[in-house]
Amino acid sequence: MTAVDARPQTTAELRFPRGFRWGTATAAYQIEGAAAEDGRTPSIWDTFSRAPGRVRNGDTGDIAADHYHRMDEDVALLKELGVTDYRFSVAWPRVQPTGRGPAVQRGLDFYRRLVDALLAAGIRPVATLYHWDLPQELENAGGWPQRDTAERFAEYARIVAEVLGDRVATWTTLNEPWCAAFLGYASGVHAPGRTDPVAALRAAHHFNLAHGLATRALRDALPRKSEISLTLNLHAVRPLTDSAADLDAVRRIDALGNRIFLDPVFHGRLPADLVEDTAALTDWSFVRDGDLATASAPIDSLGINYYSPTVVAAGSCDTPSPWPGAEEQVRFVPAPGPRTAMDWPVDADGLYELLTRLRDELPATPLMVTENGAAYDDYADPSGAVHDPERVAYLRAHLHAVHRAIADGAKVRGYFLWSLLDNFEWAYGYSKRFGIVHVDFATQRRTAKDSARWYARVIGRGGLD
Ligand code: NOJ
Repeated sequence: MTAVDARPQTTAELRFPRGFRWGTATAAYQIEGAAAEDGRTPSIWDTFSRAPGRVRNGDTGDIAADHYHRMDEDVALLKELGVTDYRFSVAWPRVQPTGRGPAVQRGLDFYRRLVDALLAAGIRPVATLYHWDLPQELENAGGWPQRDTAERFAEYARIVAEVLGDRVATWTTLNEPWCAAFLGYASGVHAPGRTDPVAALRAAHHFNLAHGLATRALRDALPRKSEISLTLNLHAVRPLTDSAADLDAVRRIDALGNRIFLDPVFHGRLPADLVEDTAALTDWSFVRDGDLATASAPIDSLGINYYSPTVVAAGSCDTPSPWPGAEEQVRFVPAPGPRTAMDWPVDADGLYELLTRLRDELPATPLMVTENGAAYDDYADPSGAVHDPERVAYLRAHLHAVHRAIADGAKVRGYFLWSLLDNFEWAYGYSKRFGIVHVDFATQRRTAKDSARWYARVIGRGGLD
């Protein structure tokens, strides 16, 4: 009788499909610095971060990780990691400083050089057109609650596509419009820091419209085979109990956090329950005929950013809240379990839940995990090494979840780790480190953390062992 091999047969099971896209992600304002160079003018994040009390320690993106001047070094890091893809964002105020009119060549040249460097390193560039840095002049004119901002965005998208379209094959219109609309205009913890729930709902609609108008402009300006996408931070919402009231809290947050984008973009409609839940605030008359058809222009994939799940119950939440119309109906309950330095619970099942939900609801749409990662209080030890075992455990668990979702039929085409570098973490400034490469912000020295070496091995073998 042959001996039974009792070792878990996991190696083969945890291979990712051939051609799986392995990447890291960053965003312009969080890493570039060079805030006033080559014609760049302030964005809403420059203004917001300069206002006292808005960002921890008064940090700004003026210098950030100085990527604008260290781009070659950072591309070399990507090459060492062995990523197949790199997701970055283009700063609108570098390209079109006032948010309208002719483009600034020097601003565009930076992205031209970045894309060329990536291609020379054998890395596919994935460009995001909006990662929250609205030109301040457009905010002065009303910002995202104003319809004109959507039109301006489509114009800017066309400009960038005309310049980079021959070399960038994958495009994302917007990153996390939920955060931009509701943290920016309802709770006010993000730029531009407004606390007006109706403005946030208007902004959400204009993001959908901007996405659709930009998709149309991109289709027009890009070569045929280009891929157009949108990245959402979908909420994996769970009820505290199975009571009807808690389940209704889930429905409300699903409407305000997920279906507010999914329904217009994929089905050309507004969720009826959302309109009803917010009826005391607005009659949605800012949605014009044809807008939802525009928003639902076909796209080629959907990006999902996932960090942790959301648990809700019937109750009320603090105001100003990012949940217009749910302040008196929904209470947010801390999920159990270990937490990252953001105090976010570590729960990879939420990612599996989202991916399999999308498998069921949007069976024809390929998916990409465009962000996933964790902040921990990393530091370089006396030998200069940065040991981050919690991040490795977090990433491993989440890649497991992605693998499980693929095995169960979800069409996940890629995974982008947030983030390549420690960077400006919005309202938390430099106090939170998401990078797999440590940045000493005093010297700008980059040091690969253990997680970077671990990720390079995962990419090299095409999966986990
Ligand atoms: C999502 C955002 O897109 C990114 O900019 C941010 O740094 C991460 N979440 C972590 O909060």
